[in-house]
Amino acid sequence: MSHLIAPSILAADFSQLGKAITLIDESEAAMVHIDVMDGRFVPNISFGFPVIKAVRHLTKKPFDVHLMIVEPDKYLENFKQVGADILTVHYEACTHLHRTLQAIKALKMKAGVALNPHTPIHCLEAIIEEVDLVCLMSVNPGFGGQHFIENTLKRIRQLRQLISESGSKAVIEIDGGVSLKNAADIVEAGANILVAGSSVFKAENPKEAIRALRGVR
Ligand code: DX5
Ligand code: ZN
Repeated sequence: MSHLIAPSILAADFSQLGKAITLIDESEAAMVHIDVMDGRFVPNISFGFPVIKAVRHLTKKPFDVHLMIVEPDKYLENFKQVGADILTVHYEACTHLHRTLQAIKALKMKAGVALNPHTPIHCLEAIIEEVDLVCLMSVNPGFGGQHFIENTLKRIRQLRQLISESGSKAVIEIDGGVSLKNAADIVEAGANILVAGSSVFKAENPKEAIRALRGVR
């Protein structure tokens, strides 16, 4: 399977957010990555329901919503209502992760789990068969434009092994510091989806940047 690109709108110009969604729609990107931050799980606040809802009609591509929030269970239905297709919660924010994943799937969304850079891959061992997507953070979540943590490559291989041993159908998404410099290595290690914020939206030609990331082998 070739890899997919999920541009993160966190790096877009928020005064032109609609244009960023339309750009993604017209590009080779597979989905829109949407970072929701609450100022508690991470030291930053991004945006919430009304913003997601306002741009939903601009594309039919899936909304890949990454919740960097505490107590995500309170809001699963709200995210479904504003148009999330994939809903990813943080392992570190869920006391009853199994229950949370079931609730996401009951709402007919794909259920994702994100791991901070310090969280061991083996923490997913008992739950991997319930997961549709694993998002490995390759930076400490909270901000765009940070440097890729190299150790992530080793973690992708560990996760790839866990997934194949378990027979899980989970896909692997890598989030943070992804650029043309490291995309080939990330794909080679076994990733399926590359999230890219700065390397797309700070590029002179974002559509071309998406195409280039899509084309790495
Ligand atoms: C970080 C977010 C990322 C971020 C990636 O907390 O989860 O999705 O937007 O941005 P870049 O690609 O600039 O590292
Ligand atoms: Zn993200």
